[in-house]
Amino acid sequence: MYWLSLAALALVAPTDALIRFSCSQLVRQRLDPLVNPGMVPSTHAHQIVGGNTFNASMDPKMDIAGKATCTTCTFSEDFSNYWTAILYFKARNGTYKRVSQIPNSGFDGANQGGMTIYYMQNQLADYEQKSKVTAFKPGFRMLIGNPTFETKAQAQKFRQLTYTCLKNIDTRFPETMDFPKQPCAHGIMANLRFPTCWDGKNLDSPDHQSHMAYPVNGTFENQGPCPESHPVRMPQLMYETIWDTRPFNNKEDWPEDGSQPFVWSFGDQTGFGTHGDYVFGWQGDALQRVMDSPCYVNCPTLKTQTIEEANKCSMEPVVKEDIDGWLTELPGINMGPMDK
Ligand SMILES: *[C@@H]1O[C@H](CO)[C@@H](O)[C@H](O)[C@H]1NC(C)=O
Ligand SMILES: *[C@@H]1O[C@H](CO)[C@@H](O)[C@H](O)[C@H]1NC(C)=O
Ligand SMILES: *[C@@H]1O[C@H](CO)[C@@H](O)[C@H](O)[C@H]1NC(C)=O
Repeated sequence: MYWLSLAALALVAPTDALIRFSCSQLVRQRLDPLVNPGMVPSTHAHQIVGGNTFNASMDPKMDIAGKATCTTCTFSEDFSNYWTAILYFKARNGTYKRVSQIPNSGFDGANQGGMTIYYMQNQLADYEQKSKVTAFKPGFRMLIGNPTFETKAQAQKFRQLTYTCLKNIDTRFPETMDFPKQPCAHGIMANLRFPTCWDGKNLDSPDHQSHMAYPVNGTFENQGPCPESHPVRMPQLMYETIWDTRPFNNKEDWPEDGSQPFVWSFGDQTGFGTHGDYVFGWQGDALQRVMDSPCYVNCPTLKTQTIEEANKCSMEPVVKEDIDGWLTELPGINMGPMDK
């Protein structure tokens, strides 16, 4: 697979950057500073990586990189936060068990599996990374996906929010928009790619989405132009999270009708409600510097720390509750319409 042959990648000479790095788990708990700012606990459980200023409010004016004292990411100038919902297994008797996470290829030892983060200028397979992009700025935040979506038609509003049924750690195809229907020998990878065109003005918007847009035609990968309303081409931000569904692969434990047993922490059993959140927190102009530097996967212009060092950054959950199962209800899911 092209993006996994790290030895081969070291031999190419890009003009600009694509970075891929590990962020260990910082904390998992029911907080969501974007959708439910200040609300403790928030409506559903998340797994969060990145800088240790993460909290329920995350004031957009907060100097994240100035305040943070550590990050779980191996690029140690990155104090951003990246988070998604948590995956649960629903047993035949109706109880739920949290699915744990495992590290991605190349990132063994990442605490609780964490997440793999990419920022890229061109498609993954393009070693040259020639297109210019404008880095996100302090105060920038966005989310992608919609937890109320339950059909493919709805989910098609978003591009490239997918799952990969892993046969092994290097499996990358095919991708599906809903949960895999059969047991996956090495777990399920959830892939989230954010939109790449910015309105150039707003660091956020009420729905945390409309300040960003997809290319007007084509895709980011094939250099589709940004719409006039959102003319600024940004890096392609992408998350990969690997859910260790291996302990639940016995079909005897799956629903009797043969349907798949996994459910997001917000109650979605289809997978179409997959979503992810981003709060920018890179130090100074580090992200712009790297996007303007010849880097591919690794990047000598950035400060790094080992995965072991990154693992030392962690937070105690503010919300004290059992979210690890076996649970009779999903944490928070019975809180009303905001659940969804
Ligand atoms: C979040 O952190 C900021 C900065 O440290 C602090 O001012 C604020 O009170 C915290 N908010 C919550 C809800 O913990
Ligand atoms: C429900 O099923 C799971 C998986 O088989 C089991 O571990 C758990 O103890 C069961 N819970 C109850 C309340 O029966
Ligand atoms: C995409 O849109 C641009 C601007 O509207 C247009 O010039 C271009 O031909 C379109 N490309 C394709 C492949 O449709």
